[in-house]
Amino acid sequence: MDGKGAHLAFKSRWRKTDEELCRHSMSFILHKAIRTDFFQSYLYLLERLPLVKLYALTSEVINGEMQFYARAKHFYREVPATEEGMMGDYIELSSTDIESSREFLRKFIGGPGKAGTECALDCGSGIGRVTKHVLLPVFKSVELVDMMENFLAEAQNYLQGKKDRVKMYYCYSLQEFTPAPQKYDVIWIQWVSGYLTDKDLLEFLIRCQNGLKDNGIVILKDNVAREGCIMDPLDSSVIRDLSILQSLVEKSGFTILQQERQEGFPEQCVPVWMLAMQKDPGLP
Ligand SMILES: C[S@@+](CC[C@H](N)C(=O)[O-])C[C@H]1O[C@@H](n2cnc3c(N)ncnc32)[C@H](O)[C@@H]1O
Repeated sequence: MDGKGAHLAFKSRWRKTDEELCRHSMSFILHKAIRTDFFQSYLYLLERLPLVKLYALTSEVINGEMQFYARAKHFYREVPATEEGMMGDYIELSSTDIESSREFLRKFIGGPGKAGTECALDCGSGIGRVTKHVLLPVFKSVELVDMMENFLAEAQNYLQGKKDRVKMYYCYSLQEFTPAPQKYDVIWIQWVSGYLTDKDLLEFLIRCQNGLKDNGIVILKDNVAREGCIMDPLDSSVIRDLSILQSLVEKSGFTILQQERQEGFPEQCVPVWMLAMQKDPGLP
């Protein structure tokens, strides 16, 4: 179709208007409202583009950011601080998950140009299932960050015997957490990215870049929708499709080194993917 791609011209024109209009003026407010409505109908009717791909804005499905986060916290208050709790109803998949994670991680660590094995950060760690089975066998020290205090408290029992190599337990929500600068060889983000809005996930990934040592990597492992962005009201999370995740990762300035689908999970489960990413060497 002739019009295909014309939205790019509209986009750059509008960006210009955004910059030039006074942000508090009525014309700016009107311009924004018209732009959103017009642009979305235009894309849908003329270019047949699924809106969610261009507007990977979780705010469209979340309906209220504060409530989105509050509901997730409410959900986790009822979740037991056990491996079963961390795996939802799928404890039987834990060993397959761990085995694949270990294999995937091995590709990016040790040796010239690869990530080191000094220190890793487990994000959305829960009680430390990933720390225990995937990270501690490889890294000299590991740090945990999770929003639930009781999970981190339990982590200290659960990781007993290896406690001296677990250096820090940060009780923070990822949207408010900044990894210490240039500290980590690997930052692992598993089954937690869906609890962050697009904007917060994007900003968190940007902060992670600063937390990485040279050759450091981030590994993000999560459920991936077959298409679009699906809201799960039960635990107040979203499941993004692969193209949305990729676009967020790339927008943050990371380059995807490799992505791999988790194998060995039942067909009826939502697909799970692992994405390894590294800071663009051109960036400061
Ligand atoms: C499904 S569990 C996964 C735990 C662990 N990553 C694993 O694979 O065993 C999700 C974890 O994410 C944490 N979480 C959810 N939203 C979070 C947020 N906004 N910031 C930090 N942690 C969060 C929960 O407290 C919970 O421990």
